[in-house]
Amino acid sequence: MRIGLIGTGRIGSFHAAALARNQDAGSLLLADADPARAARLADRLGATAAPSVEQVFTWGVDAVVVSCATEGHAELVVRAVRGGLPVFCEKPLATDLGRSLAVLREVSARGGVLQVGFMRRFDAGYRTARELVRSGALGRLHTVRTMTADPAPPPAEYLRTSGGLFRDCLVHDFDMVRWVTGHEVTEVYAAGSDAGAVRFRETGDIDTGAALLLLDDGTLVTSTGTRCNGAGYDVRMELAGELDQVSAGLDDRTPIASTEPQGPPPASKPWTGFLERFAPAYEAELAAFVRLVRGEGANPCDGREALAALRVAEACELSRREGRRVRLTELPDLPDLPDLPGG
Ligand SMILES: NC(=O)c1ccc[n+]([C@@H]2O[C@H](COP(=O)([O-])OP(=O)(O)OC[C@H]3O[C@@H](n4cnc5c(N)ncnc54)[C@H](O)[C@@H]3O)[C@@H](O)[C@H]2O)c1
Repeated sequence: MRIGLIGTGRIGSFHAAALARNQDAGSLLLADADPARAARLADRLGATAAPSVEQVFTWGVDAVVVSCATEGHAELVVRAVRGGLPVFCEKPLATDLGRSLAVLREVSARGGVLQVGFMRRFDAGYRTARELVRSGALGRLHTVRTMTADPAPPPAEYLRTSGGLFRDCLVHDFDMVRWVTGHEVTEVYAAGSDAGAVRFRETGDIDTGAALLLLDDGTLVTSTGTRCNGAGYDVRMELAGELDQVSAGLDDRTPIASTEPQGPPPASKPWTGFLERFAPAYEAELAAFVRLVRGEGANPCDGREALAALRVAEACELSRREGRRVRLTELPDLPDLPDLPGG
């Protein structure tokens, strides 16, 4: 088997290394809009570099991993499924709902296989939280709190094409809210602040955002996100029910200090970023894609799942821009597509 990976930046390099370690993944063909970057990584991993993205499709591969900047995702996914190739695409599929829906229709019409990169589905803490909720151990949930805090903002070039904090960052939290609770978001109210680094005002983005989500069973969820959490990388989900409450992402590296005299000591080695915190989850999601390509496993996150999370992000963006509560029914619905293969 040969896998073509397009986009060898931060996350693409990480995925390429995971695939290079995977005995079942075969060989790797790497491409990037900056061919020198792909060549350097290929050298490091003992893989082959393509002179341009074109060769990934003309030299012959069995599957494609799309890990380039978000604005390239939709076109490359469509190209892969038109060529009959299973494709893994980093989140989000596109920066807006309309383009994402168009991609999903194409995937469905072609009978394509698409896995989207929501790696928290592979994190041990989130998986246990899901099992506890689904088993009834927490009782009826009344409150869920999620947070994603990055220690430092990405560069302005990244922000310009990212789709903004809700679509780029908190979309992971929204995926977890659906996946862990098994319930859908019906309405949102969101707000944001761009009081931090000037690059946020220049790009029309926010550095910090908060959303209140209402689920279809009445559970209330708060989701907060920031790009400027000096203490470190902090991703958590707290689920509180009538019987018990649990927290995913709370361990001895969580970067928060208790002010209580008897409280736990502060983390001596706080998490520094997503690649470190979620390394095993990224590795497991790529291994799941390899199994999916080989016909040995189910699709852990198909395009419809990705779109459901993006719809929540889209509603939050609309809410914060218009300063009002937004019902999900105001947004285009997910298309009534036949079952997606591998789903
Ligand atoms: N799942 C996660 O946790 C996670 C984490 C980080 C990034 N991401 C997603 O991964 C994608 C890449 O993010 P990153 O942080 O690696 O960005 P990055 O800026 O570090 O790297 C992007 C790379 O894509 C290349 N590129 C841009 N457009 C291209 C195109 N059309 N064809 C080929 N190459 C192209 C750039 O030259 C660069 O090397 C984004 O969509 C982002 O949302 C997901």
